[in-house]
Amino acid sequence: MAAHRFEDDDPAMTTLDDLRHAAQSALLAAGTPLQFGTAGWTALPGDLAAAAADADHPDWIDGGLTARVRRVVRGDGSAVALKVARSECLVRNRDGQRSFLNELLRRRELHELAERGQGIAGVTPTLHASLHEGVLVSPWIEGGERVAAWSERSIAQLFDTGAALLLAGLFEWDFSPGNLLDDGRQLWLFDFGYMYPFDPLRHLNTAGDGTSAPQFHLAERFETRCFFGHLLEQESQRGDAVALAAFRLEKEVALACYLRLRTALAQRGAGAAVLAQYDSVTSQWRDALRGDLAALYLREGWRSHDADLDDDLRGQTCTPMTLRRAQWLIDQAHRNYDTLRAGGALERPGGAPTREALLARLEHDHERAARWQVAAHPG
Ligand SMILES: Nc1ncnc2c1ncn2[C@@H]1O[C@H](COP(=O)(O)OP(=O)(O)OP(=O)(O)O)[C@@H](O)[C@H]1O
Ligand SMILES: [Mg+2]
Repeated sequence: MAAHRFEDDDPAMTTLDDLRHAAQSALLAAGTPLQFGTAGWTALPGDLAAAAADADHPDWIDGGLTARVRRVVRGDGSAVALKVARSECLVRNRDGQRSFLNELLRRRELHELAERGQGIAGVTPTLHASLHEGVLVSPWIEGGERVAAWSERSIAQLFDTGAALLLAGLFEWDFSPGNLLDDGRQLWLFDFGYMYPFDPLRHLNTAGDGTSAPQFHLAERFETRCFFGHLLEQESQRGDAVALAAFRLEKEVALACYLRLRTALAQRGAGAAVLAQYDSVTSQWRDALRGDLAALYLREGWRSHDADLDDDLRGQTCTPMTLRRAQWLIDQAHRNYDTLRAGGALERPGGAPTREALLARLEHDHERAARWQVAAHPG
């Protein structure tokens, strides 16, 4: 994940990123201890401290860019996920370097919500968290697997959890496949390194000043980080019609979720600009579901693959999927340049690029993505 400062941001604007970074720097400078946990977990138990120190144990999952994670079975038979921060995050930007601290801050807020009886379904609880120790312990998600085939149930749970987080003032940026586990009954979120606080009644997300980049929202984040990667596989393995049907299912779930979310935001007194943005998105989806869904697929597929490619390039966290996304963009630029341009998908502050300029940029991005492949492939 990259920082969300945009070329078109006014440099004089105080962004929500700036405010968050300043607050986090102050917290680090003050040396304020950050430790919390579930009742009975005042300190890291000895068996887990020993497990954390056993750096060469074969059970470490090394795919994560922020931390190493290990499943540890405790004396009472329960299994926990022991997450130990890397001394340096492998994501090469400020948000990446702060992602463990950020995760602890967000988990503390989620923990407080749960303690008040307002816990959110699908959010993995925290047993013990300590910034000083660089550890985080949560219950192991038994039977949890990466989602291979998105079903109506798993999509609906993703949106339900995402919407509940938004209403609680938490915006999740990174719904990448490596951050989602499904145990067959529940879809779980467990990595909160790129979830940031915001005011859902006034802000759309945490980019810019909270209103300056309306293109980022819950469904867009899921589609960009995860679902269009899944659709890319569907396209190549099962054909365009199957991919379009999967997109229809996802949009139907997203539409129902956004209508409920809009009602809840309105009841809580959300500003007119926020509500208007939800209305604009839902009316586009509704029209497409009744009419030309393939046109929406092309437009949003372009947006998602382009945004994710940009994100991976900025963080220098490219994977084989980044290359496949870049190739999809190149193919579509060859095949559908005029449609993309007419639909506004190519608009930039300086105007839409010519076909030649677009292809040159994408070929260059493809080369950079090939150069910046990370050793581990978490996403
Ligand atoms: N509670 C859990 N139960 C089961 N598996 C877990 C749990 N927590 C983490 N994992 C596993 O460990 C992996 C890494 O965890 P996590 O995503 O929290 O690490 P990270 O270093 O922050 O990742 P990122 O690369 O997204 O920064 C996950 O992909 C998942 O497979
Ligand atoms: Mg992760």
